[in-house]
Amino acid sequence: MKAAIYPGSFDPVTFGHLDVIRRAASIFDELTVSVLNNTQKTPLFSVEERVRILEEATKDLPNVKVDSFSGLLIDYARKKDVHVAIRGLRAITDFEYELQIAQTNRKLSGGELDTIFLTTSLEYAYLSSSSVKEIAEFHGDISQCVPEFVARLVYEKFGHEYKQQPLAERL
Ligand code: PNS
Repeated sequence: MKAAIYPGSFDPVTFGHLDVIRRAASIFDELTVSVLNNTQKTPLFSVEERVRILEEATKDLPNVKVDSFSGLLIDYARKKDVHVAIRGLRAITDFEYELQIAQTNRKLSGGELDTIFLTTSLEYAYLSSSSVKEIAEFHGDISQCVPEFVARLVYEKFGHEYKQQPLAERL
């Protein structure tokens, strides 16, 4: 069975992440989307919330599981006996950082963990969780960035009332 892990912060999951998840799930028999419990960052959503959001957003994909991890990705992957990590590449600016992580993971794991990159679909290339949070903080429209239930939750976190965008503006 071909299995892969898609690690990330997913704070919150965006349409860009979901595009990568969908495509990776069609390549691998089993995909585990795993939320990093990063004690150095102050996330908008707790790890448990991010896991629940991802479960809801991927419920139509039977071979996708959602999990969380702390510490090194290579240790987590070894425990799961998985040898492939998935990462999305939006633009050349992502590449240097991602290349460094991928090479570090390969070296640290003694060649056991490889990284496969999926290039983000062009319509999502501009998206990032950070910009989603910044836009929402200032009452901006995030309906084209995240699923509607996620947009509501993000607005709730900022204590804002969520108003659904008129259909014409969502198309
Ligand atoms: O969504 P993100 O924040 O860009 O994801 C980054 C992530 C989770 C893939 C990366 O930070 C990671 O794997 N962290 C776990 C710690 C680790 O293994 N570090 C070694 C590689 S430098």
